[in-house]
Amino acid sequence: MKDISSRADIELLINTFYSNLLKINEMKPPFEGLDFEKHVPNIVSFWCFVLLDEEGYKTNVFDKHLHLPIKLHMFDTWLNTFVFTVDALFNGEKAEMAKQRATSLTYTFKSKWEKIRPD
Ligand code: HEM
Repeated sequence: MKDISSRADIELLINTFYSNLLKINEMKPPFEGLDFEKHVPNIVSFWCFVLLDEEGYKTNVFDKHLHLPIKLHMFDTWLNTFVFTVDALFNGEKAEMAKQRATSLTYTFKSKWEKIRPD
């Protein structure tokens, strides 16, 4: 199994991640009506910035989620699915880094979410 080393690898990761995530009924509502053709390149650029040091990603990622119908525990499902998808496709330093960064970002999202959107 190879490591993550290109934009094409990250595209495969994200497309597979979404196909896994959207099999879970509870995870569908936040993505309803989203134009994936526009969204996927953004999230791919985000991960290229994090993992491959590509420049150009400047969005405040947390704020992008504030309008969405998300409950706190859904972040755990998001993370479990992300980790599962990375492990199914890749092995190596960048793959480990992807899981670590996703884990710490999920932790940060959850702590902010609890304060702003306690339900
Ligand atoms: C319950 C968990 C999550 C759900 C349901 C979710 C859902 C979404 C949705 C629907 C969008 C598109 C928003 C829009 O364009 O209007 C989005 C964007 C995005 N999400 Fe999440 N997300 C979750 C957690 C996370 C986490 C933990 C991360 C951290 C890596 C993350 C990273 C991103 C990025 C990078 C974008 C793209 C922002 C942009 O357009 O530049 N998401 N998410």
